[in-house]
Amino acid sequence: MTKIIDGKKISQEIKDELKAKVLSLKAEGKKIPCLAVIQVGNDPASTVYVGNKKKACEYIGIGSKSFELKEETTQDELIKLIDELNNDDEVTGILVQLPVPKHIDEDTIIRRISPQKDVDGFHPMSVGALLIGEDGFLSCTPQGVIQLLKRSNISIEGKECVVIGRSNIVGKPMAVLLLRENGTVTVCHSKTANLKEVCKRADILVVAIGKPKMINSEYVKEGACVIDVGIHRMENNKLCGDVDYDDVAPHTSYITPVPGGVGPMTIAMLMSNCLKDA
Ligand code: GUN
Repeated sequence: MTKIIDGKKISQEIKDELKAKVLSLKAEGKKIPCLAVIQVGNDPASTVYVGNKKKACEYIGIGSKSFELKEETTQDELIKLIDELNNDDEVTGILVQLPVPKHIDEDTIIRRISPQKDVDGFHPMSVGALLIGEDGFLSCTPQGVIQLLKRSNISIEGKECVVIGRSNIVGKPMAVLLLRENGTVTVCHSKTANLKEVCKRADILVVAIGKPKMINSEYVKEGACVIDVGIHRMENNKLCGDVDYDDVAPHTSYITPVPGGVGPMTIAMLMSNCLKDA
């Protein structure tokens, strides 16, 4: 029997745990975290994401400051704001919503955020800490996948884990986190030979390729657990993932739906990062 992993429910549980943590911080008179969210330009998808992040802060009871900068904002102006927020003791987390407009260099911006406030976990210091197992902010989506697995009682230790995709934000940190949980990890990408055969080895298959419905049942071992990180809007306006859900689901033990799987976990883990050192 296939079990559908309910990311909406699990993310709600996490947010409620965090809300309780904030209440006890308040009761103890401790400092309440505050997330600064910066959006440059008005990409509609980014506006939705940023709005959801602010709502989540409100829900769990932490502070948020929002900076909506116009598309023409220069890199120097953005850097000046980041520097101010780095030095603002009230602000404990800083997030610049990506993508930024083309005239701004994303890597420069990511590196400018203080690693102590890098709640996205994108700074090279955060990524390096992850790689060598030191304390630091973990990238939200991969951390969310680990939580989905743990809270569904799916053990990772000793399992064949295959990650499809090698982005800095998902694929690479995902592979490292699975390794940290003692999985045996293979990372696949566009140049991987015999992709189907490699994927078919997986007990846990994490798909983050960015191609709608690319993974069908030919890539999946009977009884595997399939985690779909992709999200795409189809012509009929419905959302789908990188996995052909209807074809794959009957062959799995566990699967995440799109929407309602990995997606809601990203914001829950962002909130968790905001409270990491509180
Ligand atoms: N754009 C899409 N996903 C993300 C994310 O997790 N963080 C930021 N900062 N921008 C994004």
